[in-house]
Amino acid sequence: MSTQGGNHLDVGEATVEAGALRAAMVDELLELGAIRSPTVAHSFRRVPRHLFAPGATLRAAYTATGTVVPLRDERDRLVSTVSAPHIQAMMLEQAGVTAGLRVLEIGSGGYNAALLAELVGETGLVTTVDIDPEVVARTRRCLDAAGYQRVDAVLADADDGVPGSAPYDLVIVTAAAWTIPQAWTNQLAPGGRLVVPLRLRGLTRSVVFESDGGRLVSRDYQTCSFVPFRGVGAPPEQVILLGGEDAVIRLEEPPSGDVEQIRQAATWPRIAAWSGLSSGEAFDDLQLWLALGLNDFGLLMARQAAVDRGVVTHAWPLGIPTALGKGSFAYLALSPKTVEQASREFGVYAHGPEAEILAAEFVARIRSWRGTGHRARIEAFPAGTPNAVLPAGGVVLDRRDRRLVVSWPDDVKLPG
Ligand SMILES: C[S@@+](CC[C@H](N)C(=O)[O-])C[C@H]1O[C@@H](n2cnc3c(N)ncnc32)[C@H](O)[C@@H]1O
Repeated sequence: MSTQGGNHLDVGEATVEAGALRAAMVDELLELGAIRSPTVAHSFRRVPRHLFAPGATLRAAYTATGTVVPLRDERDRLVSTVSAPHIQAMMLEQAGVTAGLRVLEIGSGGYNAALLAELVGETGLVTTVDIDPEVVARTRRCLDAAGYQRVDAVLADADDGVPGSAPYDLVIVTAAAWTIPQAWTNQLAPGGRLVVPLRLRGLTRSVVFESDGGRLVSRDYQTCSFVPFRGVGAPPEQVILLGGEDAVIRLEEPPSGDVEQIRQAATWPRIAAWSGLSSGEAFDDLQLWLALGLNDFGLLMARQAAVDRGVVTHAWPLGIPTALGKGSFAYLALSPKTVEQASREFGVYAHGPEAEILAAEFVARIRSWRGTGHRARIEAFPAGTPNAVLPAGGVVLDRRDRRLVVSWPDDVKLPG
């Protein structure tokens, strides 16, 4: 396969070890199912990831599931990383990148742009854009050092896309977006694809959209985690501290109940309720089902220290689906392991004066889940589209530029 200017064979691999680690990483990505096509495998074999990971050890640079080059803001919030290879591979497979395409990558780092450059070859074009001058400068340096001078690195708030190199056959976004700016679709060529990690009530799903008339329709979505978009399109966020910074509930919209009462609920005794639904079910799709069906939905983000202090019972890295009620909260749980039970069941832990009511609603929603394989359709209509035109029975999420509609039609049964 031709490359878009990659001359890293001249630059040379830093060590033989880097080559061996890269080969092992590709094997692992294949085993994980993150790489599914020969073209994506080839691009991962070609690009020397360690040249895009200044400050990281070779081993860290080639960890299939690890991010590198973390950048934090003045409040110590993570604002940039070079993403984990398994997520990059998953999204490149979703995007279906072929030779000759014109691609806009939103959110830079250099490595993913180099993978894209390998996939589109010399007849294609890759533009990468970032809002952060430090990231753009590093991206440029790393791309040059690895031989990808033809990739264009632009400094801008990508809320406006990059009109100068449009139209694009593919816009691939690598930060968690809350809305889909009009510019992104305006700059797509007819038949183009948009791959975007979209925030849906706090959950992030990498969604592949294709245009169908005036709307965008999802062709696939996968679970992922990304730093949030910055600038004018930043996702809104409301945080409720339960017992300190190490146990917080994150919401996209202010809760309808009193925040101070919810904080107090953590001091109430815990009740548990179980659904009978086995934990073998597709966990990620169940989470989306809960997020779209429970009122005042958020994610409980807890660290082990909060578990050790007894504030919450467990901590999951991407957050725990949580519902709020009057002065109460309830979060998804797995029943404790017992000798008799082969598999654990989904249920809920709840606190507060209305814990029992909230737990019953939560468990009813779990029970209404139609099971593994039954997937959502996500559609994006222009803002201002009248309700009468939106598909019936969907959950509508109004965003600055779009009306997102999530539904579970019978004909959508995509592979998990
Ligand atoms: C996860 S990093 C990108 C990783 C990169 N694609 C790679 O090669 O792995 C996300 C990036 O999105 C950038 N970003 C956030 N908001 C942005 C915006 N409004 N416009 C452009 N870039 C933005 C951040 O500065 C950050 O560098």
